[in-house]
Amino acid sequence: MRKKIVAGNWKMNKTVSEAKHLAEAIKNDLAECREVDVVLCPPFIALKTVSEMIEGTHIDLGAQNMHWEKSGAYTGEISAEMLRALYCHYVILGHSERRAYFHETDEVVNKKTKAALAAHLRPIVCVGETLEQREHNETEHVVETQIRNSLAHIGPEQLVDTIIAYEPVWAIGTRHTATPDQAQKVHAFIRKILTQMADEHIAQTIRIQYGGSMKPSNAKDLLGQPDIDGGLIGGASLDPISFVEIVQAS
Ligand code: PGA
Repeated sequence: MRKKIVAGNWKMNKTVSEAKHLAEAIKNDLAECREVDVVLCPPFIALKTVSEMIEGTHIDLGAQNMHWEKSGAYTGEISAEMLRALYCHYVILGHSERRAYFHETDEVVNKKTKAALAAHLRPIVCVGETLEQREHNETEHVVETQIRNSLAHIGPEQLVDTIIAYEPVWAIGTRHTATPDQAQKVHAFIRKILTQMADEHIAQTIRIQYGGSMKPSNAKDLLGQPDIDGGLIGGASLDPISFVEIVQAS
């Protein structure tokens, strides 16, 4: 049985003091949560504060991005080692917003994924098709290319520490959630690709989250699908009640 993992992607929201309040509200309900892996991914500036807030709880910390080099002349960037020093255990990589607005390619995502794993950070690697690609029946091709290229040259023992987030771009922040059936089909397809890339056992071990307008009203149906192992939650993770309800539905 794969343990469900629910991560809140706060994106570019919350000042440090707002982040502190949000983390506190979530902690009140989920500090002792053992059944589900709960991860909070605040903006970089709030990582330290949230890290202190959740210390001693079962809630984990994640970042939303990182650079692949350990250190150096990369103005504005943050490395895996820096994140680890703040007790980050996860990092979201290749989110569609980073791919679209910051031109991140699969090759870049691959470098970051390898650097994260080398630093013992668990990458949450995001993949997903646009509406146009879905309408042209390109979903499987797009997702397969993203998975194979983003996870290239990663050995099986590291692959199991990787989390994949299937996030159809047309469902992110749009209120158009994929139906449980639509999502399940792509998740099962991703698992098939992982079997080809590694083996059946590893493919069955890797957790695949769904992301894209997941909220309390649709979480149970999505998370009830056999290949959906959790959620990457954007908008609904900014409201502690909604986020906690999604975790409880897992
Ligand atoms: P959303 O975002 O829940 O607001 O659709 C999900 C994500 O982008 O990770």
